[in-house]
Amino acid sequence: MSKIKGFPKDFLWGASTSAYQVEGAAQEDGKGLSQQDIINQERREKFGHADASVASDHYHKYKEDIALFKEMGFTSYRFSISWARIFPKGTGEVNEAGIQFYRDLIKELKDNDIEPIPTLYHYDLPWALVEKYGGWVSREVVKDFAAFAKYVIYEFKDDIKYWTTINEQSIIVQYWTQKCYIPESDQSNNQLRYQINHHMNLAQAAAVKYIHEVGALAGPALGYSSIYPLSCKPEDMLASLNANDLRNYYYLDIYFKGHYTVAAHNYLEAAGLAPVIEEGDMEYIAAHTSDFFAINYYSSDCAKACPEGAERRWSGYNLSGKKGDMSGFETHPGFYQMCANPELDTTDWDWAIDPVGLEYVYRDLYTRYQIPMMITENGLGAYDELTSDGKIHDEYRIDYWRDHIAATKRAIEAGVEVIGFMPWSAVDLLSTSNGYKKRYGLIYIDRSDDDPKQCERIRKDSFYWYQKVIKSNGENL
Ligand code: BG6
Repeated sequence: MSKIKGFPKDFLWGASTSAYQVEGAAQEDGKGLSQQDIINQERREKFGHADASVASDHYHKYKEDIALFKEMGFTSYRFSISWARIFPKGTGEVNEAGIQFYRDLIKELKDNDIEPIPTLYHYDLPWALVEKYGGWVSREVVKDFAAFAKYVIYEFKDDIKYWTTINEQSIIVQYWTQKCYIPESDQSNNQLRYQINHHMNLAQAAAVKYIHEVGALAGPALGYSSIYPLSCKPEDMLASLNANDLRNYYYLDIYFKGHYTVAAHNYLEAAGLAPVIEEGDMEYIAAHTSDFFAINYYSSDCAKACPEGAERRWSGYNLSGKKGDMSGFETHPGFYQMCANPELDTTDWDWAIDPVGLEYVYRDLYTRYQIPMMITENGLGAYDELTSDGKIHDEYRIDYWRDHIAATKRAIEAGVEVIGFMPWSAVDLLSTSNGYKKRYGLIYIDRSDDDPKQCERIRKDSFYWYQKVIKSNGENL
């Protein structure tokens, strides 16, 4: 019987955001454009979503936001640093106003006893580097990322204990044109997905090297879903192992063991999708492995056997917010195909709701890697309604978090080292797929896709609920 009861005393309670999704001020105080400014301008034209120019106006309202975080009782806050705000051209001269913003933000957090947990990269590569050499498809990006990372890690060497490095490499592989700017001429070359990932692995290893030099801890933030077999047929069991190898362990084995997962790598080679690896790359990656795992967990997935002759497909999505409107599932002939799990309910965007799956993830990964874990994203994207009396009754989000926090507690009591819970998101923000229609925040931002209005902050019902949760250190759910 485990002697551990409940959450540890110094457990980190907070929430998360990313730079381009909340800051706005996309062209203010010398900031250069990022690929997300361009991608989101295009999405505005195509789908009518908001662009990133104002977002949640956090750049101007960060003090008000931090006061609200304090009111909720946060002891941590995960945010990301915009590379193009600090190096508008991606390299070269530092933009003093840009770095000053993060000095001010970090100071404000520390003055309020909130542990700042920055992410070095959350999808927003400086546009200048896309123009210069195509961005992440080029190996040149590794040295530029390393220079940016070194600068900020040393700048904040006395302030930061936990750095999260690159956000969601596996999601970048799956949804590469949404997360990276990929010219149309390259979009049929799917090997580039894994080449980009290899460049990110080198970039991430460089960041870990500097993080360790200053005595801090490094953790990659990966979009992570447990993957179940559709049935207990041996073929489906093997397919789910293959899917876990290629979609999950292929990343974690690199971060924590310094090598590519063998079966997944062999599959990619046979399919002509494996990255080009240069001499010395694997030694460099193996020399700079990470210390903790930052988990972005929203849902679980399901896989089944896939015949050899099937057509290869990449992950589909639901853009409409109407259940069942998925455009398709990832299919790797002879290896696995993803499918819906008939046992689970979903969000309006077809993301399976599965708190037990989170418990499974903690348990599985602790056994495999023995590393501390923190939740750096977990949340329910929903249509929120601002009622006529100025309230947001988001009990569906409370239910979702209640169950995921309870799963976290069970994992801790089973002996897993979980050190923090920072759900998505602290404030409403620009969704990567659905603008401001799909909301995640504890704090409502009064704006629409078409009209940023004043971006007034309004406490949702989940705000008050989370305040009680934190106050009771996770006992009062
Ligand atoms: C994660 C990302 O993949 O999921 C976030 O790190 C993102 O940036 C979140 O916002 C939710 O996805 P979406 O598409 O609903 O915004």
